[in-house]
Amino acid sequence: MNLSEKIRNIPDFPKEGILFKDITPLLKDSKALKEAIVKLADLFRDYEIDYVVGIEARGFLVGTPLAIELDKGFIPIRKPGKLPYDVLKISYELEYGKNEIEIHRDAIQPGDKVLLVDDLLATGGTTLAATKMINELGGEVVGCAFLLELAELSGREILKDYEVKSLLIE
Ligand code: PRP
Repeated sequence: MNLSEKIRNIPDFPKEGILFKDITPLLKDSKALKEAIVKLADLFRDYEIDYVVGIEARGFLVGTPLAIELDKGFIPIRKPGKLPYDVLKISYELEYGKNEIEIHRDAIQPGDKVLLVDDLLATGGTTLAATKMINELGGEVVGCAFLLELAELSGREILKDYEVKSLLIE
């Protein structure tokens, strides 16, 4: 199946000049969804992984089924004020504005090997911030998995210290 055809381009969303990549058609198609998750998992099956960490919100939609496919547990990184226990917070610049994300401090134990997952690699700012939090908690990011990578935004460059793999590259 051509999975790229299941990702819809929405111009000027959420702000003028941003071409939004809408993954909802892919999520809605059971065969496309299954194929995407299995193929993304295939990229990391040989890796030693303790947990899959996904970034709110669309990273949950990809990360949780990916964790199940890889037979690992899932850890959420969330937008501020959503996680109920002790959190570590980080601020970062996004393609369209500023953002903050949080993780439970006890979610990662020193030495834990983590696969970071998000739907989209754009500037890489979100994932880089997530790697900093995981490193601060003593975890090790063994890979970064994306459904879609926007190559022209060069997110891969700021993540050069990590193994970055994307199912689809545009
Ligand atoms: C989007 C996307 C990634 C991030 C990618 O999230 O899901 O998390 O932006 O951009 P970057 O590589 O430039 O950091 P968004 O903040 O739109 O949130 P959502 O998943 O809750 O829709």
